[in-house]
Amino acid sequence: MHVQDAMKTRKSVRSYQSRSVEKDKVDRILEAAHIAPSAMNLQEWRIVVVTDSSTIRKIVEGAVPSQKFIAETPLLFVCCAETDKANMKCGHPRYAVDLSIAVDHMMLAAVEIGLGTCWIGGFTQQPVKDILNIPEEIEVFALLPVGYPDDPSAAAKRRKSIDEIVCYDTWNF
Ligand SMILES: Cc1cc2nc3c(=O)[nH]c(=O)nc-3n(C[C@H](O)[C@H](O)[C@H](O)COP(=O)(O)O)c2cc1C
Repeated sequence: MHVQDAMKTRKSVRSYQSRSVEKDKVDRILEAAHIAPSAMNLQEWRIVVVTDSSTIRKIVEGAVPSQKFIAETPLLFVCCAETDKANMKCGHPRYAVDLSIAVDHMMLAAVEIGLGTCWIGGFTQQPVKDILNIPEEIEVFALLPVGYPDDPSAAAKRRKSIDEIVCYDTWNF
């Protein structure tokens, strides 16, 4: 699959089959994070792979109770950063940018092998730390449920027009 096709096919999946994800597929997604670029090549990402269904349920109940669909997934990547929380010279936090790139790599790698994902930012960090014994100084950045989608068809993308988000040569919005 071409990268552009993976980007076009990817959608947020909020309904999963109970079927588990094969180990080689888990490894393939992890490889996508592993090879992602990062500021100063610091690779601050740390990923906890959770496959135990009762642990996934506990995380959902404790950290993201309003998004129960996550408890259906057989696989949850808890994407963290071990970081000094420094900003880059441009003012943006380095770890947040690096983690975003890595998680996006993971989502696209998942699409290529027939899996669905949904980036979860709407969660509380502390319960996740407590349940997974994650040290206090670590940032829990995103939850990424992964599984076989109930509906694997592509979805229409609801996006602004290109003209609304791009201009040329000078700011012209
Ligand atoms: C940083 C970020 C945080 C998100 N948090 C959530 C979330 O907590 N729950 C959820 O269901 N979707 C979440 N999403 C998914 C977005 O709602 C989704 O990407 C957007 O509506 C576009 O739809 P699509 O992913 O199907 O193209 C998040 C996406 C991003 C990039």
